[in-house]
Amino acid sequence: MHLRAGLRCVDCHPAGRSARDPRISAREEHQIAKGDDPGGLVRDDLDDTVVGCADCHESGRRGAPVAKHFGLPALHLERIACQACHVPERVVMPAEVQASDVFNQAPWIHSAGKRLWTFYGPDGRARNHYGFLEVMGYDDKPTEPFRPTLFRYKGKIYPGNRVHSAWPGLEIEGETALAQPRVGDIVKMWKAHLDDPKKYEALSEIADDTGDGVPEVNRPEEIDALLASVRQALASGRLSEGHARALLALPTPQAQSAAAQTVLKRGLNVRQTEELVQRLTGHRRHPTTARRSPEESEVENQLRQALGTKVTLRQGRKGGSLVIHFYSEEELEALLERLLGS
Ligand code: HEC
Ligand code: HEC
Ligand code: HEC
Repeated sequence: MHLRAGLRCVDCHPAGRSARDPRISAREEHQIAKGDDPGGLVRDDLDDTVVGCADCHESGRRGAPVAKHFGLPALHLERIACQACHVPERVVMPAEVQASDVFNQAPWIHSAGKRLWTFYGPDGRARNHYGFLEVMGYDDKPTEPFRPTLFRYKGKIYPGNRVHSAWPGLEIEGETALAQPRVGDIVKMWKAHLDDPKKYEALSEIADDTGDGVPEVNRPEEIDALLASVRQALASGRLSEGHARALLALPTPQAQSAAAQTVLKRGLNVRQTEELVQRLTGHRRHPTTARRSPEESEVENQLRQALGTKVTLRQGRKGGSLVIHFYSEEELEALLERLLGS
């Protein structure tokens, strides 16, 4: 309605000189006024710099009709956000559940890693969210009017889109965080099973109840089957990479295989495996880190952040080498996309 009336994005999300909020005003940087996300996962230093509904509708700014609300008890306006009454319906496709515990085989998603994210709408059916983004423009995306959920936030009632998330994670004794398998590992696990049902056999217990081609993990047996397979996938995938390199530092194959058992049983990560090996061999080895300058680490850090993966800088007397690490086909694909811009 606002856009039809000729308002532009920056009338409500102003930047630079047109912003009135002192946090942004007159700063010709790319700082754009924003609202406040109750999810708490986006930057919050510019919360509520957006031009609010009342800014226009109390003053008539930009030709906005002044809202009088005759007969509406004042308490309503204090406790109920404008949007709760004035946005009773939204026409975007809502995602009510986002799950990364099953493999969405929807054919047109480009990046295999993203197929892991399956979105479910209010109808309980899986939808091809990334697929839609990939093949459609803004206007031809399917829309599905839905009624937002009302929730209380900072003393007011707001309409919102509640999203439940599901993903596998393993609790490991002594660890404070959940161990989460990498996206690529889960995709590989499901693919292996779909190609050959004998692999990760437990996954066949996970049924597609809604008949939409994507199985859902909801019953306790299905959750157990998923976790058992993930554990198995992690065990087989984990020892092939950094772990193996760490274990090679042990003197005999017997010692290596015994340590490998410990790693599997205790679900040790690469760093912990290195520590285990150090304890077993009785000395600490840090050949590369010992001689490195803070500048070198800083360069590695910056590259790691820019590329989203581990980068190792090795400096020789003249020149050196830069190693970009990846841990799955999908990660390599994503890296190439990033570097080559294809
Ligand atoms: C009439 C005022 C108004 C106009 C015009 C407007 N917005 Fe918004 N926009 C808002 C408000 C209010 C919010 C919600 C802020 C909050 O969540 O607290 C918002 C939220 C957003 C968000 C965050 C959405 C989300 O789901 O988290 C984005 C992105 C955004 N607007 C972009 C735009 C773009 C792009 C345009 C132009 C096409 C635009 N806005 C036009 C008022 C407006
Ligand atoms: C930048 C100023 C501006 C902001 C901010 C703004 N509006 Fe508006 N609003 C307008 C204008 C201008 C119109 C008139 C549209 C038209 O001509 O039909 C309008 C129209 C409306 C109408 C329709 C009134 C009618 O008579 O049909 C409603 C309802 C409304 N706005 C609600 C809101 C809500 C809720 C917010 C906060 C999310 C908001 N507006 C934020 C400028 C604004
Ligand atoms: C409890 C529900 C409720 C809340 C909260 C509410 N409104 Fe309204 N609003 C209405 C109703 C109902 C009407 C139509 C009857 C009327 O004009 O009094 C209306 C009318 C309007 C109109 C149309 C005025 C006109 O003359 O065309 C605008 C604009 C508007 N509201 C903006 C706002 C803004 C901005 C807020 C937040 C500050 C807000 N409303 C909060 C229910 C609400």
